[in-house]
Amino acid sequence: MPVRTLRTPSPTPTPRRQRRALGALAATAAAALAAAALLPAGQAGAAGPTLRSLAEAKGIYFGTAMTQSDLNNSTLTAVAGSQFGMLTPGNEMKWDTVESSPGNFNYGPADRLVAFAQTHTMKVRGHTLVWHNQLPSWVSNLPGSQVQGAMRNHITNEVGHYKGKLYAWDVVNEMFNEDGSFRNDAFYNAMGSGFVADALRTARAADPDVKLYLNDYNIEGQNAKSDAMYNLVKTLKSQGVPLDGVGFQAHFIVGQVPSSLKANLQRFTALGVNVAITELDDRIPLPASSANLAQQATDYANVVNTCLAVSGCVGVTQWGTGDADSWIPGTFPGYGAATMYDNNYQPKPAYTASVNALGGATNSPSPSNSPSPSPSSSPSPSPSPSPSSGVGCKVTGAVNAWNTGLTDNLTITNTGSSTVTAWTLGFTLPAGQTVTSAWNATITPSSGQVGARNLSYNGTISPGGSTSFGYQANHTGDAGLPTQFTLNGTPCTTG
Ligand code: G3I
Repeated sequence: MPVRTLRTPSPTPTPRRQRRALGALAATAAAALAAAALLPAGQAGAAGPTLRSLAEAKGIYFGTAMTQSDLNNSTLTAVAGSQFGMLTPGNEMKWDTVESSPGNFNYGPADRLVAFAQTHTMKVRGHTLVWHNQLPSWVSNLPGSQVQGAMRNHITNEVGHYKGKLYAWDVVNEMFNEDGSFRNDAFYNAMGSGFVADALRTARAADPDVKLYLNDYNIEGQNAKSDAMYNLVKTLKSQGVPLDGVGFQAHFIVGQVPSSLKANLQRFTALGVNVAITELDDRIPLPASSANLAQQATDYANVVNTCLAVSGCVGVTQWGTGDADSWIPGTFPGYGAATMYDNNYQPKPAYTASVNALGGATNSPSPSNSPSPSPSSSPSPSPSPSPSSGVGCKVTGAVNAWNTGLTDNLTITNTGSSTVTAWTLGFTLPAGQTVTSAWNATITPSSGQVGARNLSYNGTISPGGSTSFGYQANHTGDAGLPTQFTLNGTPCTTG
């Protein structure tokens, strides 16, 4: 029986990028490096430099949106709790959940998400207080004279409930039409455009420290809608209305990131507010072609690099952890694959491109053509984690094959300095191979791009330590070893 061993691919040099400090969010470069090297307790699933650690080392955050039901998915929570440093509740802080009838406040669902974030030392963006959508009919049916009171009471109660616990609030969401006019929702109809300032002042009174944002979609490029937001922000700032930032949702179509994104963000920061990418996704016609996945990687790198290049851009949040969690297929039939993780939470090219844009080193070349750091970036020395401070993985394996079947034994070695407390080894099986059984791991799905997950007794791999598992598979002629190994999203060397 032939026994084959794995070959080691040549490493990719670590890109160096530049970054300025970010107020309260980023710790010092030393602390960020420490975060990259030693992940806090509870960050199961982190094997090496993560989106989170790399972003924080650059002075920004990388976030994800999660819903209450996501908490039941251990694969999702392992990824979210390790790769992301900011959490936005997808629905649970909206008016229809929090105050479905007048004065009856329900914080249970959102509290559970905040607790998850706290357990994983993630910050939280509150989303959202005043929005025409997911608004109970009792509000939209109120006489105009009562809307302001209901709005103030809602804001005061909800912001007060989370006082001191959140990083930011999306105070008003999606107030503009595409032509830049105000949306004729219950709030505008009752109070005119002054409802925005009123909402911001009410939120500030309830929590003096939380960042206050306005948030909208289709304002990423320079257009009539972003002009309207720009003019509103300018007016609010000139009036002394408390406003800390503008959220750009960034629900993009593959290949259509606006070329004016950077200039647009910069004109907002010039007004004295921060900016954030708050709901990033990049939808692709299904089935997703490799060309579109490569373009998506370019798009993600573009967004990350743009945020890094704009002083005052505090972070990037993806809307949903993986493709399985995305709102896109339900809203845009025929489109999907909009996030950095596939339906099985395996990283896609957009993940690698984002890691590379953040200065992480991967040994699988990104298909993206990440733009160079902007000349306007700060010239301060890069705090990129050195290879020795990150953690990594190596996979060795041997296959024993016969005419229609094979067994494969794989050994994962933790080549870094952080203990892995739960692992998923992603890899791609050769065409025609179907896993029929496994030991020391569960493997799903049975063919193609799969994930092998630890069992209850072998989730921990100390630095320098290793663990082994294996599987039996049928094959149709190609009895080769798997390829493209990743440990909790981090590409592994082989040998
Ligand atoms: O809770 C009900 C459930 O009881 C019912 O059985 C089910 C039947 O359809 O609907 C459930 O409500 C759904 C809700 O999400 C919670 O799952 C709504 O139908 C559905 O429309 C709603 O979609 C949310 C959408 O906002 C509503 O506008 C998405 O999950 C959420 O991701 C999305 O998020 C928005 C941001 O808040 C603002 N920017 C755009 C973004 C994407 O639309």
